[in-house]
Amino acid sequence: MTSHCDPSIEAGVMPTYARTDEVYVDGDGAIVRDRDGREYLDFLAGIAVNALGHGHARMTAELQDQVGKVMHVSNLFRHPYTETVATRLCEQTGMTAAFFTNSGSESVECAMKIARKAMHLAGTPERTSFVALERAFHGRSLGALSLTHNQKYRTPFAPLLDVTWVAPDDCTMLAATIRTQRPAALFLEPIQGEGGICELSREFLQTARDVCSETGTVLVHDEIQTGCGRTGTFLAAQYHDITPDVVTLAKPIGAGLPMGVCLANETYANTLEKGEHGSTFGGGPLVCRAAAVFLDEIDSGLLDQVRVRGEQLRTGLLQLQDELPIIKEVRGRGLMLGLRLDRPAAETQQALHRARLLLNCTAGDVLRMVPPFVITEAQVEDGLQRIRKALQSLPRFPQ
Ligand SMILES: Cc1ncc(COP(=O)(O)O)c(C=O)c1O
Repeated sequence: MTSHCDPSIEAGVMPTYARTDEVYVDGDGAIVRDRDGREYLDFLAGIAVNALGHGHARMTAELQDQVGKVMHVSNLFRHPYTETVATRLCEQTGMTAAFFTNSGSESVECAMKIARKAMHLAGTPERTSFVALERAFHGRSLGALSLTHNQKYRTPFAPLLDVTWVAPDDCTMLAATIRTQRPAALFLEPIQGEGGICELSREFLQTARDVCSETGTVLVHDEIQTGCGRTGTFLAAQYHDITPDVVTLAKPIGAGLPMGVCLANETYANTLEKGEHGSTFGGGPLVCRAAAVFLDEIDSGLLDQVRVRGEQLRTGLLQLQDELPIIKEVRGRGLMLGLRLDRPAAETQQALHRARLLLNCTAGDVLRMVPPFVITEAQVEDGLQRIRKALQSLPRFPQ
């Protein structure tokens, strides 16, 4: 029985998201259908999650099979899928061990705990603080929120953990801050996703690597949005040949099932000991079977597809930028692309939604495109046409 009369509470769901009225019930690759049978082209993929799109035949068959066997056994017992996926992720990332979680934020929490514990083991337990970047987004749990820069998200929950902010791409400020602060860890996203699809320079990533090694600071790359192939390499930082100490993953790894991972290199793989961290559900047989299928697809050339389709989309967006003054900049890499507009992007996003193209806005003025990796050539072209048409119909700004 519900006993509320607060109109902001829709169907008993806390009002933390602005939800639209469509109800999506079905899908096929990069197409989703609402309950009235209308088709939408999906450039959002459940916010950079559904790498294999909707209704993937092999994923469906394998998960159906797994549901009929064991879905959950707990981390008190070994399971072959858990171990296969951990090993394969270590191979893909150059790390040594994995801790499985159920979300991005939980993966970040695990990385924070590794860093704190590492400082205890190093005999410097006073090194408790963290350094993160302006515009960073690392999640919403209290630890991860402490590393998230947006004041709107932070203020209602103060006080948070001690974090010092550095301007992205300011190498001098970064080196000086790490040397004087001596934090437990530096967190960064190689391409800032929620921050507006802003790519960090190779020089900045290298400075981060060097100054962290010099000072014994744990370097954490948050690749929750950029990782698992979205930018065309398994990790975005691999493009620059830079390896962190710890890397966090989530979003596409479970192909739509809730799954995250925190991976650590040889130095930190043993930092957390028995009982010092845990998760009831993390890395269970069902999600790991999904991840195994996803990793098989990666091994069968899915990243080539990301690179080719990403280049097609990027080239098309650059052409649109030449035609339409509303577009100020094309950002990103692979199938993680953003269009910075000359105005707040919400209205444009709604126009595109009416044109049945799903995407969202970040950082106020950026339209974010993170389609499934399996999107076809014709669908990319179709999306570009819908964007052209919708943007052409908008008034000039400022008027
Ligand atoms: C870079 C990054 N880190 C962390 C998170 C938090 O992930 P989750 O929402 O799964 O907790 C996100 C989510 O968008 C993200 O983009």
